[in-house]
Amino acid sequence: MTMNNKGFDLWATSYDQTVQVSDQNEEYPFAGYDEMMDVLFEKANQLPCSKILDVGIGTANLAHKLYNEKHRITGIDFSQNMLEIAKGKMPFAKLHLADLSKGMPQQLQDEKYDIIMSNYALHHFEDATKVKIIKSLLSLLEPAGELFIADISFDTELAQQKCKERNIHHWDDDEYYFIATKLLPVVSNFAHVQYKKYSQCGGIWTIKNKG
Ligand SMILES: C[S@@+](CC[C@H](N)C(=O)[O-])C[C@H]1O[C@@H](n2cnc3c(N)ncnc32)[C@H](O)[C@@H]1O
Repeated sequence: MTMNNKGFDLWATSYDQTVQVSDQNEEYPFAGYDEMMDVLFEKANQLPCSKILDVGIGTANLAHKLYNEKHRITGIDFSQNMLEIAKGKMPFAKLHLADLSKGMPQQLQDEKYDIIMSNYALHHFEDATKVKIIKSLLSLLEPAGELFIADISFDTELAQQKCKERNIHHWDDDEYYFIATKLLPVVSNFAHVQYKKYSQCGGIWTIKNKG
């Protein structure tokens, strides 16, 4: 069953622990998580005081490190409990309770960001919706801005199938993982896009506006 905001509310207090265990054991679904967050931290920390939007911010695992470096953080999430944990780590960040499936929240309409990131959140959406969300996030970027998506990703459908076979007992059939051979051609029609694999099931997508 697809997890709604109540499911994430219940997961909020144990979320960080779940991620650590899965990553340390190099297991699906979070293998590569820490390494990817370190890479994104370096990318987002290059210029001072950047305006950063985190979409599906959760417990602000990465965002709070950037907040501590004085970047200006805005986060959106549809789980009140996740946002409360994020607020505890970043008292002055702008945090909005919003469901991404209903489009971008009103509060972001007139904003532009240097960096937008969305980590382990967009696999809850089918590819067509992912593409819509990516387009609306690109419209919120400054001209030199970059969108980073770290998420459960595979080079090909076959690689995903092999991972599923290795993890058949806890595979989540209700999620929609990123497949490079499917999404790269679609996204490259309207943006510059690069994909880099970091683990058996994780990778980072770097997306920029054309022109
Ligand atoms: C697996 S957690 C990732 C959290 C964080 N970005 C990280 O890297 O640790 C997924 C997050 O996406 C949020 N999320 C899932 N579906 C959403 C939706 N439709 N609208 C807004 N947030 C959503 C969840 O509440 C949760 O906090």
